[in-house]
Amino acid sequence: MILRIFDDAEELYEVGANIIANLICTTSEANLGLATGTSPVGIYRKLVEVCQRRGLSFRNVSTYNLDEYVGLPKSHPNSFYREMENNLFQHIDIDRSNVHIPDGEAGDLRAECERYNALLARVQPLDLQVLGIGENGHIGFNEPNHELSSGCHIVSLSEETRTINSIAFDDLDKVPTRAITMGVGDILKSKLVLFIAMGDRKAEIVKRAFQGPVTTMCPGSLLQLHSNVVALLDTQAASLLS
Ligand code: GLP
Repeated sequence: MILRIFDDAEELYEVGANIIANLICTTSEANLGLATGTSPVGIYRKLVEVCQRRGLSFRNVSTYNLDEYVGLPKSHPNSFYREMENNLFQHIDIDRSNVHIPDGEAGDLRAECERYNALLARVQPLDLQVLGIGENGHIGFNEPNHELSSGCHIVSLSEETRTINSIAFDDLDKVPTRAITMGVGDILKSKLVLFIAMGDRKAEIVKRAFQGPVTTMCPGSLLQLHSNVVALLDTQAASLLS
């Protein structure tokens, strides 16, 4: 694991954006795994700037998002579909037919999981997987559990996750109870994991994930099994690491 710790958030974003930009430059048809949440937003913003500055095109890039809430319409401001549009896709020249996000509105969710698994199987291993971590250690929406799923599946969101994510919703009752997510196997298959964690709230889980036991009760700890993780942390999130 390559661990970079930053005092300055903008420098963290610049480093992260250039890792992605360099991969796009050196890979003829890059397949990028993308994450949502607040952590990667600054990197996506900087990536748009870097690509404009370097004249980089996304025409030959395909993207695969980790997860999506079940039951939120794509037009909902808190859907990951909308979040990705706002934070990245509407600012770059990517071909929308190359943008892939699990369909949380699918009538047959099991069939949607199978569709997404088949889609991923055609391109795995992804060249890069952008990844954050939840305060309870979830990656994507793979929540702590006695067993974890390797491929795309439907999860019931923990009350802790729903409560934390309710910040974006008017109230807890409006936060979906389920999500569709790539599995930990999908995440670990990627050639490179670009991990981002920022803020004091992530210090404890970053310590557990990187220096605690490898356990399904902290899905982020499975990253210790991956041979190519670049972790970009700010000093707050790294503050408990020994
Ligand atoms: C969300 C997403 C994850 C994300 C995590 C942390 O629920 N499903 O992909 O990494 O929570 O989000 P944040 O970066 O906002 O702390």
